[in-house]
Amino acid sequence: MKGLKKFGLTLLIFVLMVSAAACSSDTDAKPAAGSGEKYTFKLAHITPTDHMWHQAAEKFKDELDKRSDGRMQLEIYPASQLGTEADMVQQISSGSVDFGFITAAYMSSRAPAFTAWFAPYAFEDLKATNAARDTEIAKKILGTLDGQGIKGLDYVFAGNRVMLFKDKEVKKPEDMKGLAFRVTPSPPLQDFYKSLGASPESLPLPEVYAAIQTGVIDGMDMDLDATITNKYHEVAKYGAVTNHMVWPAVAMMNKAKYDKMSDDDKKIIDEAIKAAADFSANTRASQEEEFKKTLSDAGMTIYEIDQKLFEPYIKQFDEKYGPTDPLIQEFIDTFRK
Ligand code: BEZ
Repeated sequence: MKGLKKFGLTLLIFVLMVSAAACSSDTDAKPAAGSGEKYTFKLAHITPTDHMWHQAAEKFKDELDKRSDGRMQLEIYPASQLGTEADMVQQISSGSVDFGFITAAYMSSRAPAFTAWFAPYAFEDLKATNAARDTEIAKKILGTLDGQGIKGLDYVFAGNRVMLFKDKEVKKPEDMKGLAFRVTPSPPLQDFYKSLGASPESLPLPEVYAAIQTGVIDGMDMDLDATITNKYHEVAKYGAVTNHMVWPAVAMMNKAKYDKMSDDDKKIIDEAIKAAADFSANTRASQEEEFKKTLSDAGMTIYEIDQKLFEPYIKQFDEKYGPTDPLIQEFIDTFRK
């Protein structure tokens, strides 16, 4: 009996040693495609943590974790913690940061084809905008980042652009004449407002609240999401829900890192970002009425301006920017009905 116990113990120790050896040789060997490599990625963006883009980043993190069985972890750096968008894009292209959600508005200054997304009134609603992600032209525009060491993965949409005014109810484009109007520093956006007669002021997001509060600006181009998260309703009385332009973040990754991954791991990245982008646009689309009510309950006068009044300015935009780049022209031809 004693001998049998000893034999059993020896057998157990032998089995444990063999399986430990097998495990350690698994670790040393090159992992099978998509099955072994571990990653801790970094993602940077500029919005506060209650903005939809941050929620999309959290969704991306969960999807990566789930789809890779925990091999892909993501650290998120929101609210410009890593600097301006120019800094972030530099970090992504050099590889010190892996991913970014960067405004197409900023990207239009580095890769002009992104200007196409600012063709005014190109889409019926956020659902149609989100569907545009899947078109050839949208993908071709992402492809223009290849030469900058960046892999353009997808687009993440928050709400469309609206116009906020400190204390003037602007009812038609001509009422914009002479207004000092905050516009993101991006040429197509600035041009659109110049064509309306406003004086565009290039202010980054963190400076906008104080500028309108102190009367440095009379109004701003914004989205409803950021209006609520930055409490602009405290300093602007009127909100024209024009939805005149869409507002994509370009989801991007360091290209060398992406290219080095196995096909299975690339697929995990592609599908995780797609899930996050769909989550963002679909959730945001369902919040439009709620956001308008939140602002109206907070005392802001919320109203609409007829799109027809902007038609001459839409035409002006298309005629100016279409001929500057074949991709912009293709975008306009694809989406103008
Ligand atoms: C802006 O600059 O207006 C902005 C940037 C990111 C998200 C929302 C708004």
